[in-house]
Amino acid sequence: MRPLIVANWKCNPSTFAEAKKLFIAIDKGAKGKKAAVVICPPFVFIPGLSALRGSFLKLGAQDAFPEEGAFTGQVSIRMLKQFGCEYAIIGHSEKRALGETNEIINKKIKACLDNAIIPIFCIGESGKERKEGKTGEVLERQLELGLKGISKFRIQNSKLIIVYEPIWAISKGKDWNACDAGKARQADVLIRKIIAKLYGKLAGDNVRIIYGGSVNPDNALEFIEKAKMDGLLSGAASLDAKKFIAILSKF
Ligand code: PGA
Repeated sequence: MRPLIVANWKCNPSTFAEAKKLFIAIDKGAKGKKAAVVICPPFVFIPGLSALRGSFLKLGAQDAFPEEGAFTGQVSIRMLKQFGCEYAIIGHSEKRALGETNEIINKKIKACLDNAIIPIFCIGESGKERKEGKTGEVLERQLELGLKGISKFRIQNSKLIIVYEPIWAISKGKDWNACDAGKARQADVLIRKIIAKLYGKLAGDNVRIIYGGSVNPDNALEFIEKAKMDGLLSGAASLDAKKFIAILSKF
């Protein structure tokens, strides 16, 4: 399967001129590579980048609000779709840290599926939870509540992407630690087991799971080959065209 490489630009870069430069450099470097690439810029850059987009890079948002109307500061799924967004990152730990609950995440995932936007659903434990041996419990709760009320048929037939992103492995975190391919592999197996328990073996076997957390050109291949992940979510490295293209060139 083609690995899926997602660039999460977070709240970067500061100007549209820089965003455009980065996007064009990635577009050029990504052509002809095996990986499928999704760029998730800040909302305000989406229309401008959408106009520049060829057929190779896909666009995603870093969030997607399920409703329209009196919701100050939100951007709806329909608004995003107009500008060619096909994906949305939902439940990133940095959003959860700002108060996003499993219930809100669940509403957003459902709305994405209803509107044919592919949710890139982030789950992962904190360093403290891992030390306390709670990784399995945390992942199970996040999956169960995040996917609550979504039918087996829907899960089996959707292109849902789950991201295993341990909070302790995200770059610039205060209790940072490297996540190796072995730990990522264990998480992949665990997530498939939980999905199988919730939705049956077929769904557990087929769901796409990618890894996020300090992905760089040196570790990218291990997460795909040894950890058997279906792709990667890259933050810091995706802001550096050379590094990001070096990651894509590994496949
Ligand atoms: P990182 O970020 O690659 O800089 O660790 C990944 C993410 O938080 O999505």
